[in-house]
Amino acid sequence: MSRAQLIELARRDLAHGRARTMDLAEDVYRVPIEHYYDRGRWEAELRKIFRRIPLMLAASAEVPTVGDYKAMTAADVQVLITRTKSGEIKAFVNMCSHRGAKLVEDGTGNAHRFTCPYHAWSYNPDGDLIGVYSPNDFGAIDKRCYGLTELPALERAGLIWVTLDQESKLDIAQFLSGYDELLAQFGFERWHHQHTQTVQGPNWKVAYDGYLDYYHLPILHRNSFGTEIGNKANYYSWGPHTHLGRPDEAFAPYEHLPDDQWPIEKLVSGVWTIFPHISIASFTGGGRSVMISQLFPGDSPETSYTNQIFLMEKVPNTEELERDAKAQFEFLKHVVQNEDYATGIALQKNLHVGAKTHVLFGKNEGGGQRFHRWVDAILEASDEELPKLFSTPSNERSTG
Ligand code: FES
Ligand SMILES: [Fe+2]
Repeated sequence: MSRAQLIELARRDLAHGRARTMDLAEDVYRVPIEHYYDRGRWEAELRKIFRRIPLMLAASAEVPTVGDYKAMTAADVQVLITRTKSGEIKAFVNMCSHRGAKLVEDGTGNAHRFTCPYHAWSYNPDGDLIGVYSPNDFGAIDKRCYGLTELPALERAGLIWVTLDQESKLDIAQFLSGYDELLAQFGFERWHHQHTQTVQGPNWKVAYDGYLDYYHLPILHRNSFGTEIGNKANYYSWGPHTHLGRPDEAFAPYEHLPDDQWPIEKLVSGVWTIFPHISIASFTGGGRSVMISQLFPGDSPETSYTNQIFLMEKVPNTEELERDAKAQFEFLKHVVQNEDYATGIALQKNLHVGAKTHVLFGKNEGGGQRFHRWVDAILEASDEELPKLFSTPSNERSTG
């Protein structure tokens, strides 16, 4: 089903490529400029988007085996993701139940017991409190009541979503709106985590706009990527999640082949964004890879940071492949830091001076238009209304 959907999109991209056309939104869209710097709005985004909406926090390949864990800070919440004995994923607030110490330092590793660095209480990967130091001195407590605080989590398509609100009633699968079936075509659960690096950027939406935009590619990236990708994107959306294809005649050799003979790496090409803060793009240096860009607001409305998580289909097993992969990652850090985010940081300095009231998203920038509409809709929705936003049947796809 999902492979058939990918072929349908490829045929559409091919037809646009031949006709020299693209999907266009209905009109030019205007975003009030203060949406990018107003502190009240930024705090609402943290509270109502980042701490209320499921976030793709890790790839399965970062925690592939039983006992593996990943500790990280996401929107100022310290999170611990574990793979338990049964092989399933759990997520917790990375906070000891005794007096609140951070249980595990940020990073990845393997452990069958987490011992608090403050007074040595210990927990298993299921989050159970399994040891209290000097229990007779401490006094009687029911250990069953003092496990780690668990967060809703779901592993799908070799990716892991966590909601940073332990009370959340939002069904993560429903939020994914069927998009995970498309992402599953990569087979990420069989891929390998090669490297992660971090880039500092401007306001998270200024930064994220760039991942939804091919319009800038042959201009801003003329000296790095070059101009061969072109400046036209076709936007395909499932719920709030948007895939960027493009008018592309390169699908022509496959058009008369049966569905199962279209090469999967071509079918999943383009950019896969996951609302509200992920972009996945494919590369080939050192072997087939993806860069998962994971954006988070920084300490102020003017800042963000992006974890670039590199997954490779195969471990680069020669020195040459390893060198090429490393060069690929360095190149992408350079492009994002010195082209995209350097532009965004300078742009950010213009926003609050009062020279303009709005910024514009053209008919050719429908992905950005949809993203900002979704941000607005989620900010406006009460906790009760929130699940209804994602109740579109999974196979109902919208374009433009
Ligand atoms: S805060 Fe963790 S053992 Fe005391
Ligand atoms: Fe860019």
